[in-house]
This record gives sequence, C-alpha cells and structure tokens, in this order.
Amino acid sequence: MDISILNDLIPDSLNSIKYLKEVDSTNNYAKKLVLEDNDISLPLLVTTDDQTQGKGRMGRIWKSEPGQNIAMSILLKAPESLTGYSSVTLLSALAVVKAINDVTSLSCLIKWPNDVIFQSKKVCGILTEMISMGSANYIIVGIGINANSTSFPEEIKDKATSIKLASEKDVSREELITNTVRYFIDYYNKFVEIKDLSFIIDEYNSLLISKDKEVILSSDNIPFPDNPYISRGIDHNGGLIVESKDKKMITVTSGEVSVRGVLGYV
Ligand code: BTN
Repeated sequence: MDISILNDLIPDSLNSIKYLKEVDSTNNYAKKLVLEDNDISLPLLVTTDDQTQGKGRMGRIWKSEPGQNIAMSILLKAPESLTGYSSVTLLSALAVVKAINDVTSLSCLIKWPNDVIFQSKKVCGILTEMISMGSANYIIVGIGINANSTSFPEEIKDKATSIKLASEKDVSREELITNTVRYFIDYYNKFVEIKDLSFIIDEYNSLLISKDKEVILSSDNIPFPDNPYISRGIDHNGGLIVESKDKKMITVTSGEVSVRGVLGYV
C-alpha cells in the first residue's frame, strides 16, 4: 500500500493514520492503542497490508490475502448518549457501498445488518466492537474488503467475491479506504447529532438485498417456528422490521437474530 497516497487523500475529519506492514488484527491493534493512551487523538485509522489473525463476527476467523485486500479499523470516541453500537455498523456498511460505487461504479447491496454483497456474494464484512474505560466509551469499526484478491479459501469460495473479480479491474485500495473513511465519518457525525438512524432509512432500505422478500429468521441457530417472514426494511434504531404470515410486524435486532434468504446465504 502506498502510504503517501493514503495521507494525501484522507479527509480532514480523520485525526491520524496508523499503517502497519503486518499486524494480527487491526481491531485488536486499535484496542491496544486506546488502552495504552486514553488521550489519543481520534478518529484514528489503523490499516495494514497483511492481517494475520483477522476476526470475523460470531467468533469466526477473517482471512485476507496479503497485499491484495483491505483490512482497516476506525477508532472513535462514542458520544455519552450511545448505548449500543449496532447502529454504527449499519452506517459503515452504507459508507462501504458508496465508496465502492464512487471508485468502481459497481452497485453493491447490503445484507442486513452489515455484509456488502455483489451478485449474491460477499465483498465486505464489518466487525464493530465497543470498549469502555472509566466513563468513556470507544467504538472500533473493523472493515474487511475483498479488493483485489482473485481466489478464496475452499470454505468460502461459493459465497465470496472481490471488487476486482466483479469489475474486472484492479481497484486502488488507497482510494477505497479514504472514500470509506470520508463517508463513514460524515454519516457518524450526523448520527451523533440526530441520535438515531432516521436520516439513512430510505437510502439503506433502497440497498437492502432482502427488502420485500422472504427471509428465514433464527436465533442461536434455531429457526423461528413461523418462518418465512417478509423483510420490510430497517427502523430508526437499525432493527429489521419483518412481517409474519398473519401480517404482524416485528422488529428484530442484530446480534440476537440472524436473517438469511430462503434460498441460502442472501
Ligand atoms: C464478518 O463478516 O464476519 C466481519 C469481518 C470483519 C473483518 C475486519 S478486517 C479489519 C478488522 N480487523 C479484524 O480483525 N476484523 C475486521
């Protein structure tokens, strides 16, 4: 990665960039930074060319080909009013979709809450974490984008793709990182001001892959007895509103409920 391009392109809203040639996990590194110095200037970006022990959601491993893909974490101070971080996750998915579209013209969609999908395959995963130190809370938004890799481990090769495979062109990782940061921080600042997601509901729902389609809900891997439901879009807190066969609307929360399409992953 060319760190000088990154420095040139990065928006003023970001305070600093920490680039590492290799690191276990950019999320873990960001966590370490704030634990060592709680006066650190934020927002801060951590990125690397080689993430050796990337973490995925639900305790999974996130593998990324060295020098080809994007592993980045944005570390921010959370406003006092913020109780959960699931809303921030939805903002980051939106930021990635917009950034990919700006850099490549590809139109990706979102699998609620935060997978970025191109033609039914995942191009980006997001892991948001929150840490508390005394009375202060910090948020780490970890974003993994399959940018230029052209092959995937056996276990995910049917479900994953990259921007290069989708667009048939190499993508500038520096441009993609900086655009993602720019969109994300703009959305985040607005979210802090408004205190809910009402300002992105329409935009998010227009990109929601399951919108008005049947979905299968499960909790702890146990399917809901009344499956399938119809996905109707997110509410102002980022929950997914689903409609049951008897026309009742219920809102499910990420972290508690998993949602997939009737035909499989999306
Ligand atoms: C998922 O879809 O399961 C989430 C994957 C998140 C991966 C990113 S890569 C950068 C950051 N550092 C990590 O260890 N994980 C996130």
